Amino acid sequence: MSEFITKLKRTHHLNQLTRADAGKKVVLMGWVDTRRDHGGLIFVDLRDREGITQIVFNPQVDAKTHELGGELRTEYCLAIRGEVRPRPDGMANPKLKTGEIEVLVEEFQILNRSKTPPFVLEDEIDVNEETRLKYRYLDLRRGSLKRNIILRSRVSQIVRAYLVDHGFLEIETPFLTKSTPEGARDYLVPSRIHHGHFYALPQSPQLFKQLLMVAGFERYFQIVRCFRDEDLRADRQPEFTQIDIEVSFLSRDDFLDIMEGLIAEVWKKMLDIDISLPIPRLSYDECMERYGLDAPDTRFALELKTVTPIFQNSGFKVFGEIARSGGSIKALVVKGKSDFSRSEIDDLTKFAGIYGAKGLAYIKILENEWQSPIAKFLSDDEKQQLQKTLGFKAGDIVFFGAGTTKIVNDSLGNLREHIGRKLKLCDPKKYNFVWVVDFPLFDWDEEEKRPVAVHHPFTSPKWDELSLLESEPLKCHANAYDLVLNGNEIGGGSLRIHDAGIQQKVFDLLKISKEEAQVKFGFLLEALQYGAPPHGGIAFGLDRLIMLLTGCDNIRDVIAFPKTQKATDPMTEAPSTVDPKQLLELGISVTKK
Ligand code: AMO
Ligand code: AMP
Repeated sequence: MSEFITKLKRTHHLNQLTRADAGKKVVLMGWVDTRRDHGGLIFVDLRDREGITQIVFNPQVDAKTHELGGELRTEYCLAIRGEVRPRPDGMANPKLKTGEIEVLVEEFQILNRSKTPPFVLEDEIDVNEETRLKYRYLDLRRGSLKRNIILRSRVSQIVRAYLVDHGFLEIETPFLTKSTPEGARDYLVPSRIHHGHFYALPQSPQLFKQLLMVAGFERYFQIVRCFRDEDLRADRQPEFTQIDIEVSFLSRDDFLDIMEGLIAEVWKKMLDIDISLPIPRLSYDECMERYGLDAPDTRFALELKTVTPIFQNSGFKVFGEIARSGGSIKALVVKGKSDFSRSEIDDLTKFAGIYGAKGLAYIKILENEWQSPIAKFLSDDEKQQLQKTLGFKAGDIVFFGAGTTKIVNDSLGNLREHIGRKLKLCDPKKYNFVWVVDFPLFDWDEEEKRPVAVHHPFTSPKWDELSLLESEPLKCHANAYDLVLNGNEIGGGSLRIHDAGIQQKVFDLLKISKEEAQVKFGFLLEALQYGAPPHGGIAFGLDRLIMLLTGCDNIRDVIAFPKTQKATDPMTEAPSTVDPKQLLELGISVTKK
């Protein structure tokens, strides 16, 4: 390899040199970002991980060096030795950390040439993502992506340091394991040695971290990959990273205190922002009532209000019938927006329709009248009660959703966020955290006619609602919590069931048969019988956290080697077919789709 590398050691990164270094002899290494020829001089912006430094090839210093310098093309990998000098007056570049100096090249070596890259390696480029992912190693040379990956590494270090400081042990758990239910499909790995048997890649280390508590480790964490074969969205990847945590012997609130301390530490160290603690804790029921969603953006008010009782005897048939048949009617007052146009309202109605809303009634409150397709059906008493409950003023518009509680919350909750974005009510510089706590333990699955776990089957019921497990399990709340930031769920967890009897009871309610429970979770049920301590935990989505810290709206931009929305990797071309010999060895035959 290059003598340059063996003889000369690099002296500086390319973000370091300043006016104070003028006159120093330095050795720099990096890639040619840009090359400009000016009146015989060749200027090159040399780039490395940390920054950019301008280097100059001057024919008057050394004609040969200058001539060779002319061969340089973008992305050539280069080592130079030269002298730092201040840039001439008026030539400083205030946008660059090193903008006051340049390095006059005295000697250099091309460490490696580069083909012309398939796209320009600059931010704000318009290249299709497939191409960027195919050449990910080039894409990662771009400033914004590179910064995200570096920031991600720092966040991991801050998290480690904080947790270790608080008595947590970093412990690895297996990837080749058995299915852990987190609600997605498993990725399976066939066993060669055991024909017809499969490992599942973990959807999370849930069961193992609970077993680590049974083992007595008290405080565990792991920054760990999880695998979920589910439909992908802008904030979901088939493999993603959790900051996975479990503790013993702590109350919920003591645990959440430590966790919000962790988040505050990350925000302070990365953004120099003080998050005001404690983070507000909002019950799921109140959250759904006010925002319609379990991960609300609380940066703006615009809250929902239930008005069902007002319509008990309504002459407006749709609302009257829904109110009397146990449905829900909610209102959303948008201040000062009685001037929404017909087509804007049509768009909002269509938007609500995505979430199942059958319509979107509205009233424009004007100075002397209510302009509305439904006002004519409302009695004076109903109008008065609406006014009293909703407190609107002239100039406001009120929207109404009526239907099942689920559809009304879903449609109006999402409409609320949609209007928030449309009217730019959310300050992008604001970080509004909220803990949503006390989720329901179960949801009713209409298709399967059985309860399903809202979080996962190991989540404990609220201790004072244990008796509801027998009588009215669907009314039971869980010791579960989510951390929500600006409308994004960035973490979720719960206190666990540490009693084998209650765990069995929950499996029964979920209609998981004794045999199935034994096959799937027998080891957990067994472990709970050996003095399992009270325990609980949480997992933060590291990728989502980094998205929010960097302001990216695409999860792929914070992962070094992500998958496409179709769960493929254009660079390695995974997934791919395999050698028939390999399949034979595994005892697998692939059927036609
Ligand atoms: P949960 O399933 O809520 O909990 O996951 C925890 C957090 O992980 C992130 N997340 C994802 N991020 C990117 N892509 C995905 N496909 C994806 N799925 C989830 C979210 C989420 O809040 N074992 C429990 C935790 C516990 O109870 O301790 C669990 O996995 O930010
Ligand atoms: P209709 O009587 O169907 O013409 O509806 C009168 C108004 O009520 C229209 O503005 C509809 O958008 C609205 N509307 C109808 N059904 C619902 C519903 N389930 N929720 C909210 N608004 C509705």
